[in-house]
Amino acid sequence: MSDPYASPVWHPFTQHGIEPQALSIRSAEGAWLESTDGQRVFDAISSWWVITHGHRHPKIVRAIQEQAEKLDQVVFAGFTHEPAESVARALIRVAPAGLSHVFFSDSGSTSVEVALKMALGYWRHRGKARSRILALEHAYHGDTVGTMSAGARGVFNAAYEPLLFDVGRIPFPTTGKKQATIDALHDACKQGDVAAFICEPLILGAGGMLIYDAATLAEMHRICASYGVLFIADEVMTGFGRTGTMFACEKASITPDIMCLAKGLTGGSLPLAATLCKPEIFEAHLSKDRGRMFFHSSSYTANPIACAAAVANLDIWRTEPVLLRVETLSQLQSQARSVISQDNRFQNVRQVGTILAFDVANVAGGYLADVALTLRSRCLGEGVLIRPLGSTIYVMPPYCTTENDLTHVYDVISNAVTEVCP
Ligand SMILES: Cc1ncc(COP(=O)(O)O)c(C=O)c1O
Repeated sequence: MSDPYASPVWHPFTQHGIEPQALSIRSAEGAWLESTDGQRVFDAISSWWVITHGHRHPKIVRAIQEQAEKLDQVVFAGFTHEPAESVARALIRVAPAGLSHVFFSDSGSTSVEVALKMALGYWRHRGKARSRILALEHAYHGDTVGTMSAGARGVFNAAYEPLLFDVGRIPFPTTGKKQATIDALHDACKQGDVAAFICEPLILGAGGMLIYDAATLAEMHRICASYGVLFIADEVMTGFGRTGTMFACEKASITPDIMCLAKGLTGGSLPLAATLCKPEIFEAHLSKDRGRMFFHSSSYTANPIACAAAVANLDIWRTEPVLLRVETLSQLQSQARSVISQDNRFQNVRQVGTILAFDVANVAGGYLADVALTLRSRCLGEGVLIRPLGSTIYVMPPYCTTENDLTHVYDVISNAVTEVCP
């Protein structure tokens, strides 16, 4: 354990009372980080799921540099700028057809807060008493009060419970028990008071890398539509290729009413988020009455430098074979899945696109399981960054990852598991 008072910095999701001193990183290139004392570390979690193409893609770096020379920041109410206009137009072109408006914010959490507020505003301005939110069991949508409310209750938010609002909880569509999800969603929507249903399409991330199929996603969307309940797709983690398509919703051929994007929007280089919506949601707020405007902003809404990074990212998607890289990585992960599935130290081996997850067998689970910390520190010692969710190990690397890189990652994980769980 390190001296918790060695630095004034308080780190996120970190128990300073037991965890080692944070590793200082001085540079990054592609899928690799380099520490201040020269250790190379493979970024097997894409720096908390944000880095898509790799660190410091030259086109994104150049766009940031050029934009910083021109316009650093401007208030976004009453003003606009070309980078924001370009990102919005480019997003509408690539997003599921039917989404028409883009509201910018700064993080995945704020993109979801915006989505929830849009949904409530929509119903209020239409004069309908609908304010209930539905969400999936095990969901994670962020760490602000609204997003914690939508997220599963548990260790992440137990201390803040008195601040959280009540949300209707729909059972996770476990294989073999999908009917329970469908029935619960029908029953909840039927009550007539539901404003919106929010879900992470195809895979619940922080809730344990829990996977469900596209047919169930499509069915949940169909049920919501049949009751007029707004469908919010939280694509903060899944967006920009992680599941094999640019957006996970594509796999189910659905257009959500509201879609949340963040992490990979700038290729992971700078904080920026976007909440996309259908015309009727924008139009419910459109009026001569200033009391009906959308009451949300943050100081850095649509920061021009972050928007320039997003424009460059979307340009990379348009001009480079990104989906081919995603497919290649998915195939490499699939080979790893075959090997790990044969290994009786592991169970529940699961994959969607570029994400592979599996549980260490015969150890205590739960987010706070000691095995997570021990494995993380063993692997880091061998130059691989992972952050197991309890006993669930997952690998979600950038799309520039090579076969050799992945072989190294799984060798290191395998050795660490042998040492930690003999
Ligand atoms: C599905 C999902 N929604 C929202 C968030 C919150 O994003 P941020 O950490 O950028 O606030 C996350 C973060 O991991 C996420 O996975």
